[in-house]
Amino acid sequence: FAFTPANAAWAEAQIAKYPAGRQASAIIPLLWRAQEQEGWLTRPAIEAVADMLSLPRIRALEVATFYFMFQLQPVGSVAHIQVCGTTSCMICGAEDLVAVCKSRIAPKAHQLSEDGRFSWEEVECLGACSNAPMAQIGKDYYEDLTAERLEAVLASLARGETPRPGPQNGRFASEPLGGAT
Ligand code: FES
Repeated sequence: FAFTPANAAWAEAQIAKYPAGRQASAIIPLLWRAQEQEGWLTRPAIEAVADMLSLPRIRALEVATFYFMFQLQPVGSVAHIQVCGTTSCMICGAEDLVAVCKSRIAPKAHQLSEDGRFSWEEVECLGACSNAPMAQIGKDYYEDLTAERLEAVLASLARGETPRPGPQNGRFASEPLGGAT
C-alpha cells in the first residue's frame, strides 16, 4: 500500500499538526484517508500508516479494529449499510431492517451482494436514537426507517441515485413543523 501523492501530502500535513512526539494522534484521520483511497482498510494500509507514525503495527491494528467506521473487508461498491441494532432501534424495528438486508443484499453481515454492489452489517448505537430505527449509509444517516422505507432507499441507490438522507417519514428539520407538504 502507498498513499497517492496527493494523499501522502495531505497525510504529512495532518502529522505536522501535532507536537513532536505526539504524531500518533494523527492515526484516525490517516486510517480514514487510507480507507477512502482503497474502499476499505486493508492490512497493508494499516501497517503503512503505523510505519508513517513510527507506531508498533499492533497499535494501529488495535485502533482499526475498535471503531466500526473502519471496514476491514471489502464493502459494496455502491453502498455499505450499517444498521443500528442497539436498544432504541431494536425496540423500534431494527430486526425488520436486518431482514431486508439479508433478503436484498446477502444472508450474512459483511458478505457482498452477488453483483458486488452492496454489503451490510449491524452496528452499535449511532447516536440518533430519537429517530430510531436508523441506518448509516456512507457518511449519511437514514432515520425513522421501516422495512419499506429501507427497501426504497436501496432501490434508489441501485438506480444510481442519492436518496435524501435524514428522517424517511417526511419530517425534515429544514421544513416547517408538521413535516413535508
Ligand atoms: Fe440506534 Fe441509538 S439505539 S441510534
